[in-house]
Amino acid sequence: MKIQDIQNLSIKMGQEADFRGKEGVQKFLDNKKKEFQRFSLSEQGEIDKEALENPYLDSRIYNISEDKEIKKVLVGIDIGPAEILMAKEIGNIDLIIAHHPIGKGLAQLADVMDLQCDVLNFYGVPINIAEGLMKEKISEVARGVNSANHQRTVDAAKILGFNLMNSHTPCDNLAAKFLRDLIEKKEIERISDLINILKGVSEYKEAIKIGVGPKIFVGHPQNRCGKIALSEITGGTEGSAKLYEKMAQAGIGTVVGMHVSEEHKKEAESAHINIVIAGHMSSDSLGVNIFLDELEKQARLPDGQGIEIIPCSGFTRFSRVAPIV
Ligand SMILES: [Fe+2]
Repeated sequence: MKIQDIQNLSIKMGQEADFRGKEGVQKFLDNKKKEFQRFSLSEQGEIDKEALENPYLDSRIYNISEDKEIKKVLVGIDIGPAEILMAKEIGNIDLIIAHHPIGKGLAQLADVMDLQCDVLNFYGVPINIAEGLMKEKISEVARGVNSANHQRTVDAAKILGFNLMNSHTPCDNLAAKFLRDLIEKKEIERISDLINILKGVSEYKEAIKIGVGPKIFVGHPQNRCGKIALSEITGGTEGSAKLYEKMAQAGIGTVVGMHVSEEHKKEAESAHINIVIAGHMSSDSLGVNIFLDELEKQARLPDGQGIEIIPCSGFTRFSRVAPIV
């Protein structure tokens, strides 16, 4: 497989696991195309055309130094110049895959946050309320990422001649889908039961060893879960704190997330919503692992030789693929 094939696989898997469904994702893209047509020719020239095809602008290819068959990849949650230098030390790395966005993927992180409106709507929050409250937050995030040194890592990859891409929302969609399937299959009464289920996932088991296993940030082990929402696993970054009250009104009792700020924690407390934090690097690793399992399967050569994956930067590799015997 070449770099573009790997990017295509990431986007395809992200769409298949998306809360909006494939049709919902297509509608999102169609709407962008309609908006694009309304712009003048000079404005169209300034618009990133990838936005019309890729529903996850926070997940891209940043550099192709040599478009070759990919046999050895370095994969990390955060890739910076240090990891690029590490790749040089390791040697023969064909591609570096980051999870968190870099370059223009970071600059356009806010673009994927629209997904959160649909996720909230999926759990019963009226779409007008979700959109109204998220609008403010989305513009805040867009302004927040504007000042970053976006190209730092991309420049390092270009100078040292490394192929570089990332997969953020597609992998977060995969983690959200995995957790949804895991949780929805079971009747979970209390928060302690929910925590125990999460503790059975390999990535979270590993995280417990370093003190960052699943934790209750709001609520009590004996609290009843009520309706559990996986509304804070995917969709770019943290949504609006004002949403908790609306989520409570929509009947959500417990939110499972990757991380939560103090402001959000306070709002959840006053809305009587339990917050269970599964873990950040561990949840990110879960999504990346599901993507890499499929990549490993598809990249396997007839002689049984596959792609070699070297994990780094907070990424813990667990394979759910049965080994070939
Ligand atoms: Fe993350």
